[in-house]
Amino acid sequence: RDGCVLVTGGAGYIGSHAVLALLDAGWKVVVVDNLVTGFDWAVDKRAKLVVANIDDEATIRATMGDNGVTAVMHFAGSVVVPESVSDPLKYYRNNTVASRSLIESAVASGVKHFIFSSTAATYGIPEQVPVSEDSPKVPINPYGMSKLMTEFMLRDVAAAHPINYCALRYFNVAGADPQGRSGQSTAGATHLIKIAAEAATGKRDAVSVFGTDFATEDGTGVRDYIHVTDLAAAHVDALDLLIARPEESHTMNAGYGRGFSVLQVLDAVDRVTNRKIERRLEGRRAGDPDALVADNSKILSALPWRPKHDDLEGIVKDALAWERKLAEREG
Ligand code: UFG
Repeated sequence: RDGCVLVTGGAGYIGSHAVLALLDAGWKVVVVDNLVTGFDWAVDKRAKLVVANIDDEATIRATMGDNGVTAVMHFAGSVVVPESVSDPLKYYRNNTVASRSLIESAVASGVKHFIFSSTAATYGIPEQVPVSEDSPKVPINPYGMSKLMTEFMLRDVAAAHPINYCALRYFNVAGADPQGRSGQSTAGATHLIKIAAEAATGKRDAVSVFGTDFATEDGTGVRDYIHVTDLAAAHVDALDLLIARPEESHTMNAGYGRGFSVLQVLDAVDRVTNRKIERRLEGRRAGDPDALVADNSKILSALPWRPKHDDLEGIVKDALAWERKLAEREG
């Protein structure tokens, strides 16, 4: 592969898996991460790590120039939905304003391709499930809005400058590198499969089930859980598409097009561990939709990408294996 990819947030959960996928595909990689939520040890040694904020224009431009960066994959950002409600300006600063600066540095440095971590939170509470890309975008929290605003900036910038982009709208990312090289390591996780893995390895004594009266088969929330390694592979394919068709930009859902309920996820964890995690049935969290499942026809037709790790028990197994590794590391 010709050129170098700058990966922001490459020391974080999804970014570190994208770094592995890019390196495995033969790309040169330079990571920019401020290590606020990421870890330097999560960055594969084959990649270069620059510890900086993405809105540090001098450092970013120097990094792009010195390394011959031709493409950016932009994972850095704040991702906790309830925090975005209590501290919206943090989200508009870290996700929207900092992205504006990064995009400007990319344009000024002659970067040709930009891949952006967007989210299904841009849809808010979807009118129809599976949800397709052209469904109404009505985020119900500042997190979703901060990402949608960045999508708008990219659209306008790609129309004005010689750069194209792909925004991938992630559904529920879970699991860990099947080879055990990375996983979800940030403390204080709120995501279901991570929490269930913590419970299964003894870090917590129970899992709360938030809401049992949703309009779903068993009353608990349904989500489209996508393995982080499949998601990372989609980014590598998306980059190939941007290179092959420099006049086009794309926005695509990244999901499998099928959903599992909270109880189905916990049952899968029990099957994998051969034990039973305690469930605590509780009230709904604010703003949780009944079901959020991707219409993934667009990504399947635009990219050669195909799910390889879409078995729920497999996702759980990989998440558990990483959780055990973390427990050893933390002694
Ligand atoms: N849940 C529980 N107990 C928990 C944690 C979660 O029952 O301890 C439930 C939730 O209520 C929901 C499902 O499990 O029904 C999944 O919840 P997560 O917190 O794992 O994920 P979300 O679906 O809330 O969040 C995801 C992404 C966000 C994105 C959001 C859009 O992680 O980045 O979808 O709705 F903004």
